[in-house]
Amino acid sequence: MSQPLQQPDANRTYEEILQKWGVPQGRCINKGNFGRIISVRDGWVVKMQSPRKAPESEQRRRAEVAEMEANIHFFMQVNEAPHIPRLVEVAGVRQARYAMRMEDVGESLYTVYTKGALSIEKIETIAKMALEALSWMHYHSILHGDLKPENMFMRHIGDFGLSRTGKDFDCLCGSRFYRAPEVIFGLKHDVKADLWSLGCILFEILTGNVFLRCHDLETEYASDLAHIHSIQVRLGSIPKEAFQKRRFLDANGDLEQPLNPVLMKRTIHQMLENDHRRGDGYRYLVDLILRMLVVQPEERISAADALKHPFFHSEFSSDLQFHLHLRGEDIEVFKTGKLEVYAGEEQPLLEEIDLQWVGDHSCFHIPKQSTPYGLRYFDSSGISEKMITRRIENGILTLSRKDFFDVNCDDSDMI
Ligand SMILES: Nc1ncnc2c1ncn2[C@@H]1O[C@H](COP(=O)(O)OP(=O)(O)O)[C@@H](O)[C@H]1O
Ligand SMILES: [Mg+2]
Repeated sequence: MSQPLQQPDANRTYEEILQKWGVPQGRCINKGNFGRIISVRDGWVVKMQSPRKAPESEQRRRAEVAEMEANIHFFMQVNEAPHIPRLVEVAGVRQARYAMRMEDVGESLYTVYTKGALSIEKIETIAKMALEALSWMHYHSILHGDLKPENMFMRHIGDFGLSRTGKDFDCLCGSRFYRAPEVIFGLKHDVKADLWSLGCILFEILTGNVFLRCHDLETEYASDLAHIHSIQVRLGSIPKEAFQKRRFLDANGDLEQPLNPVLMKRTIHQMLENDHRRGDGYRYLVDLILRMLVVQPEERISAADALKHPFFHSEFSSDLQFHLHLRGEDIEVFKTGKLEVYAGEEQPLLEEIDLQWVGDHSCFHIPKQSTPYGLRYFDSSGISEKMITRRIENGILTLSRKDFFDVNCDDSDMI
């Protein structure tokens, strides 16, 4: 990092700093794990370490965390990272600690969304803001590491207490609900872990439900195992390769059974399907969230790519959307083929979709047409399998895998 912070002054106390900054006997607006925020007049806040007593080793650890936080925030400030609270001043104090004076950026996203549902347009603004900030950070090899509604604001992301620079990270383990699978698996992870957290957050502010409300159990292992089973309930079974290590797998290579029963029942699709806001914007947003909540980090969308997603680039009602969701046992067979979309039988080809590149749930645009649409599926040998014709209703083309295969399938595989 360029321009490192000054070393803390061994003789200076927090009290002296607060006095220098003219902080009145501050009203504490929040106490977090490591830090404490004191509200201050004139639109800024001070974050400094809690004076709570702790064993010396723990105090040393907290001081290290605070120093790293101050350094990273300072680096981002100097290099004009977007959407971070402006750092006005950093002061090093006794025992290797730092006090940070920064812009007051208002209520946290947690406070805002728990007061009432957010519109799709508001969520779009928040998602874009977060992705712009993450895209900058990830470009500079900085992992945020602790994204959650409490650490986000309407126009900013904050709390860089667990942020780190580098390529491969070991677990510093941000809040459990938002922790990425690879972190739970105990694998080295990279900046993609932030995209999982953001997917959880967007799901939460869209639906009002925490995506994975996994509580801490007696042991870390039991909590992690329950967490993995919960992910499976929501997203379907996790491929064994995702684990890389044998942790959590039994002698046969199968996932161990959880010690406590997993209470979650609904899949992500069941949780999303009854929303009354099922307009175009809602569908784009769901598509984006599904690309973030992908277990394998290499297949998870990056922040830079997420910014190119149609959710941010469409007049929600100008095009017709075509949502394709592939799921089930024969997905691999299906994925070797190709799909063509026509403006009806014998009418021009509008879209050619190589199914190999289709995620578990994908959203396509097709220009608005008054004619019915035809879809032709080709298997990998290029021999046409089936032509079906569908009329667009309410701007959404609804398809099911049953349309292409003669299989018994209760799920609606495409929405
Ligand atoms: N710049 C800020 N402006 C307004 N409120 C803030 C700011 N930074 C933090 N807060 C509030 O204080 C809380 C704790 O701050 P945070 O930086 O997350 O500390 P911790 O590391 O203890 O979690 C946040 O959840 C938020 O409500
Ligand atoms: Mg925090």
